[in-house]
Amino acid sequence: MRLRVRPSTRLRGTISVPGDKSISHRALMFAALADGVSGLHGWLPAADCEATLRCIRALGIQVERPAPDQLIVHGGGLRGLQPAPGPLNCGGSGTTMRLLMGILAGFPFPSTLVGNPQLSRRPMERVAQPLRQMGAEVITTEGHAPVYVRGGALQGIRYELPVASAQVKSALLLAGLYADRPTTVIEPAPARDHTERLLGAMGASLERDGGSITIHPAQRLLPISLNIPGDPSSAAFLIAAALVIPGSEVEILNVLLNPTRLGWVEAWQAMGAPIRVRPEGETGGEPVGRLSAIAASRLQAVEVSGPLVPRMIDEFPIFAVVATQAEGLTQVRDAAELRVKESDRIAALAEELRRMGARIEERPDGFAIHGPTPLRGAVVHSRGDHRLAMALAVAGLIAQGETIVEDAACISDSFPGFVETMQALGAEIELRSEDVE
Ligand code: S3P
Repeated sequence: MRLRVRPSTRLRGTISVPGDKSISHRALMFAALADGVSGLHGWLPAADCEATLRCIRALGIQVERPAPDQLIVHGGGLRGLQPAPGPLNCGGSGTTMRLLMGILAGFPFPSTLVGNPQLSRRPMERVAQPLRQMGAEVITTEGHAPVYVRGGALQGIRYELPVASAQVKSALLLAGLYADRPTTVIEPAPARDHTERLLGAMGASLERDGGSITIHPAQRLLPISLNIPGDPSSAAFLIAAALVIPGSEVEILNVLLNPTRLGWVEAWQAMGAPIRVRPEGETGGEPVGRLSAIAASRLQAVEVSGPLVPRMIDEFPIFAVVATQAEGLTQVRDAAELRVKESDRIAALAEELRRMGARIEERPDGFAIHGPTPLRGAVVHSRGDHRLAMALAVAGLIAQGETIVEDAACISDSFPGFVETMQALGAEIELRSEDVE
């Protein structure tokens, strides 16, 4: 599948985006471990979350699905998972693999987790090593998937994360539920805290003290009825398009407004972007509300580094596209983690955006972009990375001439309906299967 994108004018409308990916994974996994029946509404029916659903069912949990975005999960209790009949296929989902490693460390039976070639290139020792310290047997394949886990009696540990990673933090907190004493994870900077919030809402005992989070061993988790709010990481593409296309005005309803996920809003506001955040309430311990933006009359370059980086870790591809339209030199540092995402996002962004005329320099731990630069239509490649595909599509909306984004089917890893949502706002974008050309 490829995307065909043409220069567009005036995106307008009020819309919503599909459910948050990080919360969808967690809600399903934790509900599987609860004592009783949980109801999840607004679950994200995207490829990554489907991988979690497949694995949870393979581990013996009954899940009904009255609608594509609704799940009824018959939790088996904290000790209720059963050995899977074969390897657990995590597809391309890092969250599925890393969080499941933490959970399975609490179970005495052996499990093997496998992923697609893209996931199999991503580092797994960062989870395996502290889980071994807790007493689980974990074997990676030269640091990668396939990963073998056989858990059992775990000891609580105190562990300082070498990099800010919500996936590693979550895996250790989940294993901590099964340990003999409290487990403390110290993070170098706050990464998304959905695990802490949701486990807390389901009755687990956690404490935060500055940069350290302590979880106490648990006997049970309470079932939950949850309305999963829209994914701010998906909303970012729509807000970005509104900022860079003159005359635009876009409002997104029912979005997750957790501050550990909104670093990109702060970065763009610092550039002069007219973005409004309107909190409206809470669901499952998470703040929810509206996000809106109108076209920016002028954007100024900024520097992004330090603790802001983990708070916008998934938004750098679209951040880079916006930065091409800002006046001055935008610089990103302390973001070497971008090299181990669905693609090496630093190298991929530099190469693909250059094809469109952007002036971007690759750095070991980030990039620098000179702006503003008029972009030109080009044939660009997603490299199988959903966020790169969507960022390049937004770049195509402001480029002169036609842009083709090759290998765009990966968009459904996180944002099913991206193309239809963009079209509803007035964007000239269409999905084409290769044989239609
Ligand atoms: C996620 C954590 C982040 C993020 C990923 C989702 C999560 O990864 O990039 O898209 O749901 O915990 P890291 O923990 O590797 O930073």
